[in-house]
Amino acid sequence: MNLFDVYPLYDVSLKKAEGAYVWDENNTKYLDLYGGHGVISIGHSHPHYINAIKKQLSNIGFYSNSIQNPLQHELAQKLGELSGCEKYNLFLCNSGAESNENALKLASFITKKSRIISFYNAFHGRTSAAVAVTDNKKINAPINLQQQVTFLPLNDIGLVIHELGKGDVAAVIIEGIQGVGGLDEGTTKFFKKVRKVCKKKKALLILDEIQSGYGRSGKFFSFQHHHIKPDIITIAKGMANGFPIGGVLISKKYKAKKGMLGTTFGGNHLACIAAISVLDIIEKENLMDNVNKIYQYFLEEIKTVPKVKKVKGKGLMLGIEFDFEVKDLREKLIFEQHIFTGGSNNKKLLRILPPLNITKDQIDDFINALKEIISNE
Ligand SMILES: Cc1ncc(COP(=O)(O)O)c(C=O)c1O
Repeated sequence: MNLFDVYPLYDVSLKKAEGAYVWDENNTKYLDLYGGHGVISIGHSHPHYINAIKKQLSNIGFYSNSIQNPLQHELAQKLGELSGCEKYNLFLCNSGAESNENALKLASFITKKSRIISFYNAFHGRTSAAVAVTDNKKINAPINLQQQVTFLPLNDIGLVIHELGKGDVAAVIIEGIQGVGGLDEGTTKFFKKVRKVCKKKKALLILDEIQSGYGRSGKFFSFQHHHIKPDIITIAKGMANGFPIGGVLISKKYKAKKGMLGTTFGGNHLACIAAISVLDIIEKENLMDNVNKIYQYFLEEIKTVPKVKKVKGKGLMLGIEFDFEVKDLREKLIFEQHIFTGGSNNKKLLRILPPLNITKDQIDDFINALKEIISNE
C-alpha cells in the first residue's frame, strides 16, 4: 500500500530529538524553531514528560469515557489554575479541528442559531464546520460549503456590528493571533468591542488559542493581552508536546447535558498524563517568563538582520516579514544552516514557533544564519 500523498514534504527524516534540537538519519543536527507546527512547547524528550508517560503506560494507557478518570479532573484543575481560567469547564478531545468542531456545535446548541462569523485568512482546521470557518476555498469541499459562514476583515468593527445585528449569528470565532494566515491579530479595541457586541446580540465568542495559547504569546492565552473573557476557548497543539489532545474550555454559565458532546479517545489516561506533565514543566521552569525574556531579546537582535520589513506576532509566535518571498530562504535554513522554520499564507513571512525554553544562544544561531544567507544573496 502507498500513502495518500497529500503533504508537500522536505526530504528529511528524523530519528532523535532533544530540547530544541532534532537529528536526522545521517546524524545531522538541526535547530528546531518550528516544533512541528507549534506543537513542541516544553522541548523535545523532556525527562519529566517521558517518565510520566512511561509510568502511566505501565499502569493503564487507555480507557474510554464510560468510567471515572481522576486524571481528567487533575488536568482541568491544573489548567484552570495556571491559565487563570477557573471559571470554565473542560471538554477533552483529540486535535485542534475537533476542539473547534465541538466549540461551534456547542455555540449552535446554546443559541439555537447556525450562522458563524469568521475572519479573512483564518485557519481553524480541516473537518466539517472547522474547515467551513477557515478562509481557504481550496480546502473546502462542496459538503463543507453547506455551513453558513460570513468572513469579515480583521479589525473592522463596523462590519461585525452590522452582521451581528441581523440576529442569526451563533458565534464569532477568532484566533488570538492568526497562525497559518500570517501572524495578523485583532487590536485590543477590536477584541473588547467584539466581546461587548457578542454579549448584546446573544452570540458566543470563541477564541481559537490552538496555536497562540499555552504560554506561547507570553501570557497563558493570547486574548489575555486584551483583558477580555471569551465564552469558549479552544486548545490543542502545545498542550501535550506532541501527544494528540485537544480541549474546549466552556464558560461555567453554559451547562452540560449528558450526551451533548463525546469522543472515544478524548481525555484518555495517557493523553491526560502527557498534558499534566506539560503544565508541570511550564510552571516549574517558569517558561512564560522565558518567552517574554527571549521575545525582548529577539526584537533587538532581529534589527541587525538586513531586509527585514516587519516583525509580527508576540512572544514566541513570531513572523519575520522580508521584502522578498521566503521559500528559498527556508530551504537554505534547513539544508545549509540546519534550522527548521515555518511559512504561512503570506509568502514573504518566515514563521517561527520555537519551544518555550529556547535560549538566547539558540536565537543567536538563528540570527547569524539569517545574516549569512541574506548577505550571500
Ligand atoms: C489556529 C488553529 N486552529 C486549528 C488548527 C487545527 O488543528 P489540528 O491540525 O490539530 O486539527 C490549527 C492547526 O494548525 C491552528 O493553527
